[in-house]
Amino acid sequence: MLVIIKENYDEMSKEAAKQVAALVRKKPDCVIGFATGSTPLGLYKELIRMHKEEGLDFSKITTFNLDEYVGLPPEHPQSYHYFMWENLFNHINVNPSNVYIPMGMADDIDAFCEWYENKIKEVGGIDLQILGIGANGHIAFNEPGSSLGSRTRIKTLTEKTRQDNARFFSSMEEVPKYAITMGVGTIMEARRLLLLASGTSKAEAIRATVEGPIMAKYPATIVQLHRYATVIIDKDAASKLEADYS
Ligand code: GLP
Repeated sequence: MLVIIKENYDEMSKEAAKQVAALVRKKPDCVIGFATGSTPLGLYKELIRMHKEEGLDFSKITTFNLDEYVGLPPEHPQSYHYFMWENLFNHINVNPSNVYIPMGMADDIDAFCEWYENKIKEVGGIDLQILGIGANGHIAFNEPGSSLGSRTRIKTLTEKTRQDNARFFSSMEEVPKYAITMGVGTIMEARRLLLLASGTSKAEAIRATVEGPIMAKYPATIVQLHRYATVIIDKDAASKLEADYS
C-alpha cells in the first residue's frame, strides 16, 4: 500500500486529481469508480478545472458509482445520482450513457444488484476505484461486520453512519435506513484503489486501515491486501499513524 501524506485537504485533492488525470490521458476509455461524500469534492473540482482549462477529455470513460440510498429518486437533492451530476458529471464531457449509479428506486433490488455486477464485468472491470472512508471504517456503504468477500447488495445503515450523514438532511427521520452498495469483494476487484481521507475525525479509521489488523469490524482494512492501493490523506487524518511514510 502506498501512503501519501499531504499538508492539507487542498493538496490531497490535487494529488488525487493528478493520478486520475494521468489514467484518463493514458487510457481514454478507462473505467472509473466514483465515490460520494464530502471528501472527494475537492478532487472533483480539480478534475472540472482540468477539463475546462487543460482540455482533459472524459468523453470515452465509463463510470460506476459505489452506492446509493434506497428510496431516493435520482432527482432527490440528497441522492447520490444528484450529487454526482451536480458536483462532477454536469461539468465535464462524460457520455451520460456510460454513467452507472445504483438505482435506489429499483423494484427488484436483488435483480438490480446482479445486473450491476454483470455490467461491471461486461465493460472489463474497473480500472481505478476512488474511495472515501466512514469514521467507523466503512467503505462505500459496507458497514462494520460486512463480509470481506461481499458483492453489490442492499445494506442496512448503522446509526453512526445515519448520524454522520444527517447533516445533509433536514431531520434524522429523513435519513434513509438502507442503501445499495458495491460489496467489499467488488471493490477489491478494481485494478487500482485510491482511498482519500482528511481531518481528525478520520484519523482512527485511517490508523486501523493502514496499520491495524484486517478485520470485518473495519471493512476498509481489506485494502491492505490489494496489490495497487494508494491512500492519499492529509496530516490530520494521518495523525494517529505510527510508521514513517515519508
Ligand atoms: C458515505 C459514503 C461513503 C463515504 C462516507 C464518508 O457513507 N457512502 O462512500 O466514504 O460517506 O463521507 P465523507 O467523505 O463525507 O466523510
